[in-house]
Amino acid sequence: MPVVQLGPERCDALLAFFGSLPEGDRTFIKEEVTDPDTVRSWATDSSPGGRWVAVDTGGEGGDGTGDVIGYVAVRPLPGWSDHVGELRLVVSPTRRGSGLGRELARRAVVEGVSAGLSKLVVEVVAEQGAALALFTDLGFSGEALLRDHIRDRSGELRDLMVLAHHVSDTWSQMDAVGIGDELDASAT
Ligand SMILES: CC(C)(COP(=O)(O)OP(=O)(O)OC[C@H]1O[C@@H](n2cnc3c(N)ncnc32)[C@H](O)[C@@H]1OP(=O)(O)O)[C@@H](O)C(=O)NCCC(=O)NCCS
Repeated sequence: MPVVQLGPERCDALLAFFGSLPEGDRTFIKEEVTDPDTVRSWATDSSPGGRWVAVDTGGEGGDGTGDVIGYVAVRPLPGWSDHVGELRLVVSPTRRGSGLGRELARRAVVEGVSAGLSKLVVEVVAEQGAALALFTDLGFSGEALLRDHIRDRSGELRDLMVLAHHVSDTWSQMDAVGIGDELDASAT
């Protein structure tokens, strides 16, 4: 599935994607994802980091756009933490388990490092095996465990993990997973 930078032509498909997600999945994005003005403003946002979507070209319409089936963003934190980028990732529940989450996350790591961010973080629900495996393989490790920090759909309290990727420390690991080569290529 092609992964493309979010542009104005994909905003309606992205809104439809967010609208189709269970509420619990939408909360990972931490922004007003069902508000059209908010989502459209992202397409022209020039702050460091970025936003990318996975597009199902099988659903390609005559207008040149297909269905959005995954989304990833890397957003710099404010103020004195603006060297830190936070990743937010979600894949359509019907398309999980085929490598899309991994591809989107790699894209965000490569672009985040290329943009000069020296630390990347992501928050995952402690029992979310897929998210933990995916980010660990990309060089992230657990940095904080926030106990009873979120409520799931049934109101149960769940732990939240903050995973971090210190770019300089993990450079050799990035080489090991092939991301170093991608960074070299994007720098030329
Ligand atoms: C986390 C998420 C993005 C993964 O998307 P995905 O497209 O299913 O991910 P992938 O197919 O690339 O799988 C990545 C790895 O997760 C693991 N995995 C996949 N499904 C799994 C499952 N059901 N249980 C345990 N591990 C699983 C595998 O190790 C897989 O690696 P592999 O390629 O070696 O098999 C998706 O589950 C999601 O959108 N979750 C809700 C939002 C969220 O938790 N976001 C993360 C924090 S922002």
